Amino acid sequence: MTEGASPTESSSANPGGLSSAVDSVEAVPPRPPLEIDVLTLFPNMLAGPLAESIPGRAQTRGLATIRVHDLRQWGLGRHKTVDDYTYGGGAGMVLRPEVVAAALAVLRRPDSTVILPDPGGDVFGQARAHDLAERRHLIILCPRYEGVDERIRSMIDLELSIGDYVLSGGEIPALVFIDTILRLLPGAIDSESIAEESFTAGLLEYPQYTRPAEFEGVTVPAILTSGHHEAVRKWRLKEALRRTVARRPELLQGRVLTKEESKLMAELRAEAPAANRAVEGPVPSDS
Ligand SMILES: C[S@@+](CC[C@H](N)C(=O)[O-])C[C@H]1O[C@@H](n2cnc3c(N)ncnc32)[C@H](O)[C@@H]1O
Repeated sequence: MTEGASPTESSSANPGGLSSAVDSVEAVPPRPPLEIDVLTLFPNMLAGPLAESIPGRAQTRGLATIRVHDLRQWGLGRHKTVDDYTYGGGAGMVLRPEVVAAALAVLRRPDSTVILPDPGGDVFGQARAHDLAERRHLIILCPRYEGVDERIRSMIDLELSIGDYVLSGGEIPALVFIDTILRLLPGAIDSESIAEESFTAGLLEYPQYTRPAEFEGVTVPAILTSGHHEAVRKWRLKEALRRTVARRPELLQGRVLTKEESKLMAELRAEAPAANRAVEGPVPSDS
């Protein structure tokens, strides 16, 4: 899950086998950049996050092209109105359908996927991010206030939620989608990082350590500095299983364990039963 080692770390000796994802990015087969158009009333909210780190690098490397549009340019009348009160009364304003229709008439192409961030949408996850990273053109509409006129939904291909809470607008969800998708584009980061990180392999990621080897009396597990790649791989798989069982057991439901995983699970069960109660399954609340 490395974004890149710090300059001081990457320029020094590397006894623990630490690697820099920046240095080890593989050659990328040519592929047209993923194009993303974002429609928002607050373009400045997106500028900073999209210019930095992996999203910024994905664009300078030509892996993605992102255009942020002020929705108000498609606003109605002299005041460029984009929203209005809801029929039937109630607090707040909703986005008008003509405004969105006019914007999509300009931006939409046959290969576009139009996305509406919405608390009632499908919950966005890593599998969806992989799917969207394969598409050619994404348009993300960012509503504000009370959301959208219901008729706008028929113009949308995908409604996505980022969780069971309500944000003030679609810009932060849009950033969540874009950041998650861009780092999956071939050449954005080391593909090994993606293969091992949480959710991609169906497990939470194993614990990671960097220098110093000892901090406030807590040392790095010796196996990680042993140089035995196979032992390190096995330790990481076991710790990923331990963490997933303890924190997100539902991720393992329906997973067909490999022989090795079954053996490691048995080892986890045998270790300190009290400390590993989660491995045995949840304790009924009425017991
Ligand atoms: C204040 S919210 C509107 C909430 C809406 N009235 C409701 O109760 O479902 C304004 C906009 O923020 C975005 N938004 C808020 N929470 C979100 C979430 N959890 N996931 C995705 N988008 C969200 C949506 O685009 C939404 O239309």
